[in-house]
Amino acid sequence: MLMIEGLSVSFGPRRALHSISLEVHSGEVVALIGPNGAGKSSLIRAVSGVVPVEGGRVRTNDTDLLAIPPLRRARHLAVVPQAVSMPPAFTVWETALLGRTPYLNFLGQVSAGDEQVARAALAKVDALPLVARRVGELSGGEQQRVLLARALTQSTPILLLDEPTSNLDLHYQVGFMEMVCSLAKSDNLAVLVALHDLNLAARYADRVALLVDGSLAAVGTPPEVLTAGHISEAYRLPVEVVPHPFAGTPLVLPGD
Ligand SMILES: Nc1ncnc2c1ncn2[C@@H]1O[C@H](COP(=O)(O)OP(=O)(O)OP(=O)(O)O)[C@@H](O)[C@H]1O
Ligand SMILES: [Mg+2]
Repeated sequence: MLMIEGLSVSFGPRRALHSISLEVHSGEVVALIGPNGAGKSSLIRAVSGVVPVEGGRVRTNDTDLLAIPPLRRARHLAVVPQAVSMPPAFTVWETALLGRTPYLNFLGQVSAGDEQVARAALAKVDALPLVARRVGELSGGEQQRVLLARALTQSTPILLLDEPTSNLDLHYQVGFMEMVCSLAKSDNLAVLVALHDLNLAARYADRVALLVDGSLAAVGTPPEVLTAGHISEAYRLPVEVVPHPFAGTPLVLPGD
């Protein structure tokens, strides 16, 4: 379980996050939505200890995640950042194994168990056929799947994903979100995922958190948060919300 308590972040004199409190339960997928610049990446980066926080705490059960060294934190949470370049000369296999870094002994030796975890993670994202390829040669979507495999290889109970589907085609967007949901349930993971696609959020998230100007404007189930009122105000655009013809989940359409 991930507990974000009163988290505030500033960049210079500008406050980017205003006392954010949000819980992500084990087995739950929470979608973080909001306009460009709302603070989604800043929240994910603050929770993962990449940007300093001005106030507040991030906890999992009894562990204060921002008070422990990064390598120990990496056993609790794994991150797929929004814009990240992997070392292009590394192979997919080497990249996936990087996820085992928090568990290696002081000689940095990779065990058969580490390799097994990496292989299983690559299989989950359908990337086993890519193992010998260099990361720099992969397409954007293939790279995104390898990044997820690297995060899964970390074997953490918390997963933070920053727009993981932005480079994926429709097939892999749906496949990716279905996989993340089923992993959350099967492995009891707490997943916080920043998404721009409101319809993916509606379809796959257990709960949705709407961030606007660094503050949480609404948190709840997809039908509670994805209302025409919330969305048109947050995105400054008239929208219509209709039920998905089969799933019944909210579908957000730009209106006029
Ligand atoms: N390292 C930084 N230094 C200064 N300002 C920053 C930094 N990182 C983010 N910001 C600012 O904080 C605000 C929130 O940015 P953030 O990247 O968190 O938004 P976002 O919701 O992820 O947006 P997007 O949908 O475009 O990814 C923006 O105004 C941004 O310019
Ligand atoms: Mg972002």
